[in-house]
This record gives sequence, structure tokens and C-alpha cells, in this order.
Amino acid sequence: MRVIIAENADNVAFYGAQQCVHQLQSKPESVLGLATGSTPIALYEQLIQQCREGKISFAGVWTFNLDEYIGIDEQHPQSYRSFMQEHLFDHVDIERENTHIPKGMLDPEEESREYEAKITSAGGIDLQILGVGRNGHIGFNEPTSSLGSRTRVKTLAPDTIRDNSRFFSSDEEQPHLAITMGIGTIMEARKIILLAAGENKADAVKALVEGPMTAMQPASVLQMHTNALVIVDKAAAQKLEMIEYYQWVQQETLRLQGADC
Ligand code: GLP
Repeated sequence: MRVIIAENADNVAFYGAQQCVHQLQSKPESVLGLATGSTPIALYEQLIQQCREGKISFAGVWTFNLDEYIGIDEQHPQSYRSFMQEHLFDHVDIERENTHIPKGMLDPEEESREYEAKITSAGGIDLQILGVGRNGHIGFNEPTSSLGSRTRVKTLAPDTIRDNSRFFSSDEEQPHLAITMGIGTIMEARKIILLAAGENKADAVKALVEGPMTAMQPASVLQMHTNALVIVDKAAAQKLEMIEYYQWVQQETLRLQGADC
């Protein structure tokens, strides 16, 4: 696992976008794994900008999102389909039929099986973008999720429901269930980047980078991935014990690669 410590949240997005741009330039028909939440929004803004400037194209790109709420229609403003249309898909040259998000209104078991099959028939995910919940969840794989799990239905933890309640108005019913890629599914991506910013993520970042690998902190499974990059800002990195080492590696990497991270 490599750790990049960025000055602030904008720089987290910059480094994350740089990884995506590099991926799309070296393989224009990439399969991307995408995340929702506040963290990747700034990264998506940068990708939109790069696409407008003609530096990248999504014309041959396929995408698979991590998760979707169960019980709300994809037209619902808080569905992850709406989120992705608003923050990325409506602004780039991607074909709608190449964008995949689990459907929360179909038979969830059948949908989960089909979602796995679609990822496999697309050739697997080249680059997976992840955020992390304060409790260490990735996708909607809450603590104690099997580290080998596949796409399936999960019940959201009360903390996660509270954290995400900011997106729902008080008179709206907030879903407690979701379909999520499993941890085993996520781990099959050829490369993974996890982004985190802000001091409220400091405990999760400490646990995932330096803690024991445990189902109590699902993101800690990235310690087993051979090509995982964790990009955090200083606030999210503040509890890391080996911070000086990560900064040293970062300096050495920059020295060897020039300005390209
Ligand atoms: C949700 C998503 C996760 C995301 C997490 C953190 O629960 N299912 O994929 O990582 O929120 O979101 P934020 O970036 O808003 O902190």
C-alpha cells in the first residue's frame, strides 16, 4: 500500500484525478469502479474539466458503481444514479449504457448476481475509486462484513445512516438497505485508489493503513492488495504513526518520476 499525504482536500482530488487521467490515457477503454459520497465530487469535477479540454475521453469507458440504495427509484434525487448523473455522467462523453449502478428497485438477489456477471464480462475493473466511511466501511460493506464477500444486500449501520442523513430532507424516508459490491469484488480491481479528507476520517485512515487487518475495519483489507494507493489530506493523516516515512517515500517517488505522482 502506498500513502500520499496531500496538503488539503483539493490536492487529494488532484492526485486522485491524476491517477484516473493516466489510466484513461494509457487505456481509453478502461473499466472504472466509481464511488459516491462527498469525497470524490472534486475529483469528478477535475475529470469533467480534463474531458472538456480534450485530454481524456469517456467514449470507450465502462463504469461500475460500488452501491445503490434499495427501495428508491433511480430517478429519486438521492439515488446514486442521480448522484452520478449530476456529478459526472451528464458532463462527459460517456454512453449511458456503459454506466452501471446496481438497481435498487429490482429483485436484489438476482440484481446482485447479474451485477457480478456484468463486471466479469466487462473484463474486470481496471481502476477502482473508493472513499471510506468514518467506521471504515467501503462501498456499503459495514464493519463485520466478510472480507471475501460478493455483491449483495447489506443493512446500513446506524452511524452510516446518521452520516448520510444530511442528503435527505426530514420528511423523506431514508433507506436502511443497499446493494453493494462485496469486499472480495472490490479487491479484484487491478488498481485501487482510496481518498479521504478531513479530521473526521483520521481514525478510519489510521485503522486502514496501520491497524490490524480486520472485518471490523473493512478498508483495512486494502493491506492485502498489491496495487492500492491511499490519498489523504493532512487532517485525515494526522493519526498516522509512520507519517514521516510516507512523506519520505512520496519525495523519493517525485524525485524519480519528475513532477508526475
Ligand atoms: C457512503 C458510500 C461510500 C462512501 C462513504 C463516505 O456511505 N456508500 O462509498 O465512501 O459514504 O462518504 P463521504 O465521502 O461523504 O464521507
